[in-house]
Amino acid sequence: MKIFLKTYGCQMNVRDSELVCGLLQKNGYQIIQNLQKADVVLFNTCSVRQHAEDRVFSEIGKLKILKEKNPNLIIGVIGCMAQNHRDKIFKRASVVDLVCGPNDIDSIPLLIKKARSGHADNISANKAKREESVYNTRYNFDKNHSFVVISEGCNNFCSYCVVPFVRGRERSRDFNDVLSEIKSLVKKGIKDITLLGQNVNSYNAGVSFIELLKKVNEIKGLISFTFFTSHPKDVTRDLFIAMHDLKKLKKLLHLPIQSGSDRILKLMNRGYSVKHYKEIVGLYRKIVPNGNISTDVIVGFPTETKRDFQKSLNLFKEIKFDAAYIFKYSPRPHTKAAQLVDDVPRIEKERRHKIILDLQREMGK
Ligand code: 5AD
Ligand code: SF4
Repeated sequence: MKIFLKTYGCQMNVRDSELVCGLLQKNGYQIIQNLQKADVVLFNTCSVRQHAEDRVFSEIGKLKILKEKNPNLIIGVIGCMAQNHRDKIFKRASVVDLVCGPNDIDSIPLLIKKARSGHADNISANKAKREESVYNTRYNFDKNHSFVVISEGCNNFCSYCVVPFVRGRERSRDFNDVLSEIKSLVKKGIKDITLLGQNVNSYNAGVSFIELLKKVNEIKGLISFTFFTSHPKDVTRDLFIAMHDLKKLKKLLHLPIQSGSDRILKLMNRGYSVKHYKEIVGLYRKIVPNGNISTDVIVGFPTETKRDFQKSLNLFKEIKFDAAYIFKYSPRPHTKAAQLVDDVPRIEKERRHKIILDLQREMGK
């Protein structure tokens, strides 16, 4: 049996796709790059913005012809969209045979078998933890670098964000499991890793995030590592000191600001002010002088005025990020912000998006 898997969305999804491929390989499946030759097509999906979901529905639509030619073809939607929509996917895309949420990827081999005799789904409401065994994978897309998940889910409930609803509450993986996963990756020849979590700074498994960084730094054979994503309300001076001191730790900090207006930050439930954010950046630059800093920002959040937007622009001018990811606000189901009127017109969101993108490009020169 041949599997074709396509990944959408964030680094967490890239790693999940590797876990799924590893698991399927263990179960005798072959991973292939040619969709036309596949017996099973899986989409590992993202729900963070509507646009990402629309793209998946349109990709699935294109498979109708393939399925008509080969009625035994199994089409599966896994990841965040599966969790977010479940039955709606079967209804809207009748060619889909299987849906599986991010916390249940261990059940995918079984679901594929079940799908041959009808629809199969596995969407746990809030599974306490993923099966640790899924992390014992031998599958990597890149031979030098690997992502390593240190925590799943999120407890922050930023008002625009669907993540806590699709990935559940935050769970930190046992540090011994994380360390042995890294050691086995290093044995395979991986030299560089990225520790992943929605909010790595709140990692806590009896060992704090900074203690974990120190332990990772000691792993023999590992050349370099970094981490992703940090939350401005949880980063500390000690983190920057660790970034300065730990030789293998890359001097990269991804610190999403989301907005340069305190009023909007409050509506977003971010838990920090612009002043606090600037103080952290100042501290980082003092302690890690050659450090790189990148950010995420959302334009067109409900009620964002031109003045609020100007504050985001001002912040960009002041901080001069090394890189920035700019997003147009998209209302998401279950979230607090979805109860607010999405009152910034699409065209105005696009205008703000372009202005901030142009500014960032200009400063990057
Ligand atoms: N609309 C637009 N952007 C969003 N992000 C998260 N949720 C939304 C949303 N509903 C952005 C945030 C986050 C990044 C991964 O995606 O900036 O940091
Ligand atoms: Fe979403 Fe906020 Fe959690 Fe990031 S920190 S995943 S934006 S809820």
